[in-house]
Amino acid sequence: MHSIPTTNGLLIYTFTAKKKHIMIKIAVWASGSGSNAENIANYFADSEDVGVAYILTNNPKAGVIERAQRLGIPHQVFTNTQFREGTPVLNAMERAGIDWVVLGGFMRLVPANVVAAFPGKIINIHPALLPRQGGKGMYGHHVHEAVVAARDSESGITIHEVNEVYDEGQILFQASCPVTPEDTPQTVEAKVRALEQQYYPEVVASVVRK
Ligand code: GAR
Repeated sequence: MHSIPTTNGLLIYTFTAKKKHIMIKIAVWASGSGSNAENIANYFADSEDVGVAYILTNNPKAGVIERAQRLGIPHQVFTNTQFREGTPVLNAMERAGIDWVVLGGFMRLVPANVVAAFPGKIINIHPALLPRQGGKGMYGHHVHEAVVAARDSESGITIHEVNEVYDEGQILFQASCPVTPEDTPQTVEAKVRALEQQYYPEVVASVVRK
């Protein structure tokens, strides 16, 4: 609260309004723990122009639900059938005034009608250096197991636009980490998750503010 002295000595108290109006609204879609969803929501918590306004999941047991509750962000679970159909999800996005969709460990293919409704405005993070270890079935620990099995000397993150094909949209950003012969899928995952935490929010920020 601020006070403004006036000429007659009275004080006018003004309240700094809590953020009421987010100009650029992001929905995060997640199927699992939701560490990326929370990191992105926290990154924008004090932003005047961008915020996470909605969290969506297809998994009623996803950890992201508890995170959304704790963060006070509206959230909803949709069935896989609703996701496949697309329209119920699009209606929810419209009601919430969503401008951008950010995927954080969302394990379903985004249907064509949703991609068409958000042209170039759906962003995904993949936990490897695409085009390596991408495509259907390549998610979470499967990706890190494939990196170790291939004896790759590096892995990393790829942030990309989403189109109708898994992991094939335009690449926006990549960051890499070394992989040594001593690494296991678990240690590779830890390195990749550190990159996710470091870069995903700021890449999202620069893309949605363009
Ligand atoms: C993240 O590592 C993300 O890169 C990966 O799932 C994890 C979700 O973690 N995404 C994919 O594999 C997509 N193909 P989170 O639920 O803690 O954010």
